[in-house]
Amino acid sequence: MSKSGEGPRVTVTRNGPYLVSGKVPLARQTIVADAQGGSERWRESDPFPAQEAYALCRCGHSANKPFCDGSHKKTRDENQAETYVYDEAGRVRVSKEY
Ligand code: FES
Repeated sequence: MSKSGEGPRVTVTRNGPYLVSGKVPLARQTIVADAQGGSERWRESDPFPAQEAYALCRCGHSANKPFCDGSHKKTRDENQAETYVYDEAGRVRVSKEY
């Protein structure tokens, strides 16, 4: 149970991270390949120290994955119907053709 007496909880924020609370265990998962190079299973490794809550990146821009570092703020003006590509220089391509 968390401090508030609630169990595990995930909140999806608008244009931001997943907010996970309730002292949920967190560890890296790695794909294990079969002999043909296909995905066979997940292997758990590198558990993170337990915390009451986490903010997990879901934009892909964090420099501290899996945690949110606030980098999602640069995507706030994105249009849901378009695709954006980012590099070191910032947003470099906008397309509606994907
Ligand atoms: S959601 Fe915040 S950096 Fe990705």
